[in-house]
Parts: sequence; structure tokens; C-alpha cells
Amino acid sequence: MNIIRKISFLLLLGVVIAPSLYARDAWEWDTIDTSKVVFNKNNFLFGVAIAEYQNSGATNLPNCNWATWEKKGSTIKNHQTSGVACDFWNRYKDDVTLISQLGCNACRLSIDWSSIEPHEGQFDRTAIAHYHEVINKMLIAGITPMVTLHHFVHPQWFEKLGAFEKEENIYYFVRFCELVFTEFSSKVHLWCPINEPGPFVLQGYLLGSFPPGKVYALAKAGQVLKNLLKAHIAVYKTLKKLPHGQEAQIGFIHQYLNMEGYHWWDKATLNIMRLRYVLNTVILDFLKTGQFSFKHLIPGFDTKFEDQKIKTSMDFIGLNYYSEVIIRNCQPGCYNNEIMTDMPYAIYAEGFYAAIKDMVQFGKPLYITENGIADVRDDRRELFIKRYLYALSKAIKDFGADVRGYFYWSLMDNFEWENGRTYKFGLYNVDFATQKRTLRPGAQCIKQFFI
Ligand code: BGC
Repeated sequence: MNIIRKISFLLLLGVVIAPSLYARDAWEWDTIDTSKVVFNKNNFLFGVAIAEYQNSGATNLPNCNWATWEKKGSTIKNHQTSGVACDFWNRYKDDVTLISQLGCNACRLSIDWSSIEPHEGQFDRTAIAHYHEVINKMLIAGITPMVTLHHFVHPQWFEKLGAFEKEENIYYFVRFCELVFTEFSSKVHLWCPINEPGPFVLQGYLLGSFPPGKVYALAKAGQVLKNLLKAHIAVYKTLKKLPHGQEAQIGFIHQYLNMEGYHWWDKATLNIMRLRYVLNTVILDFLKTGQFSFKHLIPGFDTKFEDQKIKTSMDFIGLNYYSEVIIRNCQPGCYNNEIMTDMPYAIYAEGFYAAIKDMVQFGKPLYITENGIADVRDDRRELFIKRYLYALSKAIKDFGADVRGYFYWSLMDNFEWENGRTYKFGLYNVDFATQKRTLRPGAQCIKQFFI
């Protein structure tokens, strides 16, 4: 065979066998009994996770950047608007009862910055009093609150100032966190300063699906990611010095969203698009080494900084895990025989197990701060819950993962960002015309896992 024919043959072989080379770990589910899995609530938090904008909408949160973003018209699927979403703001009393009825002893909620500080430097006592009522209601019901201070949303005035694009703006966020912590730290001990820096940057600065809607603004993406990581450290250091700071547990919240290419050309596309890189690699490298290095495609224009303090700025890691995305012919998908969720990824509990294993390296306690399925037909939810909780218990058993709690995303159907009400993540179905909540049959099984 001459050299050209040899190369062509190898290339052809590569194309044919490429998919199988990338095939991912798959367990023999037929032989696995998930019914034996239990978590003991005496030493484990079982909760649901919610976020204020998603649950209360632009009507209740008129001063946030998402309220402005929605008004642009074509930013949400089918021109939807959030309205009151599932109106948690006004229905929280009944909703806390729903949380109790699930058997939960915890709830991860967010405190909305734009409600507390609707205009720069003006703090709204009524909104602060509202959150006292919500948190008191939870405490009376025996529900431990875990508070997120930035869940993708901030005040419109902050957006106008350039939000996290500018390092000097971190000051405003720290000021808000300090105020909230001072108010609530005698009642709340678990804190999440920023939800998922990776997806925030991906959606807002690469895909353009979140405000400010920038598409493939690679340099800005690097800058914002850097500032979010700096903001996390600044908030951590500030809160720790306040009364109750030492007892408080302040975590870094990371969505572990790995992406894999199905064919070699998908892998190449992924590398060029930098998606996996922004979502996982850069962030985990920073947590590990204290070195942030966001490489742009043009050499010499990298965004870099070093801050070793990150290693001592996490009392726990909050792991949000949904799935691993397979890019197949440049579209998100899965392998043959896998079961898709309504989102563009499959049910993949094996990936959850692997993600926990990867996060264990940081030597910090872990909370699963989000995990759930979009399933409008409710015909995969039960399977999802059983498999993922099995994977979690296996991680604890196999390598002693120090997991302290599990928060299901989400309590009820809510406003799923750019997809509006299209995706149904709720354990409770919400009829948005009447606001009636009904526990889905596929969700019933979750109770049996927590005793
Ligand atoms: C976010 C949630 C979102 C969920 C499902 C997570 O990345 O924190 O706000 O609803 O994913 O897409």
C-alpha cells in the first residue's frame, strides 16, 4: 500500500470507529436494584431547590435585569413572558407546606437582589421583611434554608453599570451580600454566593440566550468569568468577618456540565467553540491551582489571574448536575439506546457518579445543590430519580464521598429562563392558569429514599 492509500485508509477507519472510541460508561441497569437506597435525614439534608425569578417572575421582580430582558420581545421562546411565574412571592406559605409534605428538611432558595436594592444604594425594608417571613416559615416547618445570593439575576441598575464585566462593580455585589448576611445570618447557616458562574457566562456571553445577550464575545466571557470568581472570594472573605461568619458554611456552586463529541468532527467543533472549556475546565483548574487562565483563540490575548485564596474560600462545594451533553453532528444529543430528557441531553446517572468522583478531589464537603429532569410527559421522572439517587449512594459507598445533602431541582414547574414554561422540572405540576399545584405521579417515589 503506498503512503497516500495508507493515510486514506486510516482516515476512513477513524471516521468509522470514532463513535465507539468515545462511547461513555454505561451501567447494566437491568441488574441493579435501586430500591435499597436510603439516606438518613438525621445526618443528611433532603431538599428542593428554587430560584426567585424563576418562581416569582418579572411581575413580582420588576427591577431586575431579566424583567427588562423579557420586554425585548424575542428573547424567550414563543415570545413568552414570566408574569408571576408560579407566584412563590405570594404563595410561599402554602408552598412551604408542599415542601414539608415531600418530607424535606431543607430548601435552597435565592434572595433577589433587585427586590432588596431596587435602586442603587436604596434598600427596601419591606422586601427584607418579606424574606424574614419566608425564612421564618421554613424554620418553623423544620426546613433548613440554604440561601443563594445571585441566581443568574441582578438589578437592572447593576446591569446598566456593566454588571460583572467590570471588576470595580464587584463592590456593589459584596455590599448587597454583606447586608443580607447581616440580616439573616442568625437564622441561615448555608450560603451560596453565586450560582454557576460557567453557565451564566456561557448563556450571556457566548450563546446570547441570557442578558446581556452577547454572542461569542470570547474576551468578555473571560473577563466576566474572572470577575465572578473574584467576587466569590471577596464575598467569602467579607462574610466570614461578620458576626456568625465563622459558623456559616459558604459554598462554591458549580454546574458540572461536561460535553463530549460523538464524532471526531464534533470533538473538534467543541474545542473550537470552547464550550466545555468555559463550563468546566477553566473553573475546575482555578479551584485546583488558584491560577485562572482563559485562553482565547488568538494567542497573547488570554485573561489570567492568580489567587490562591480560592482554596480557603469554600466551606463546601455545591454540585449541580443534570447530565453530560453529547454533541453529535454539531447538535446536542445522545448515544443510541439512551433515554433523552426534554432538555437536549439524556438521563445519565453514570455521569453524576463520575462528577462526584471528580469533585471529591477538592477535599471539601459536597452538597448536591441541584439535580432534576425536565419531563413534560412524566414518564421518565421516576426512572431519573431512582437512577441518580442510586448513583449518589454508590459514590458515598464506593469512595466515601462526603455528601451532606441533596436538593432536587425543582419543587414545582417554573420559568425556565429562555425556554419559558416549556420545560417541566417540577415535582409538582403547576397549572399556570389557576396556580394549582399537583404532585406528579412520577415524583411520588422520591419520598421513600429519605427516612
Ligand atoms: C440552573 C437553574 C435551571 C436548571 C435547569 C441550572 O443550571 O441553576 O436555574 O432552571 O439548570 O435548566
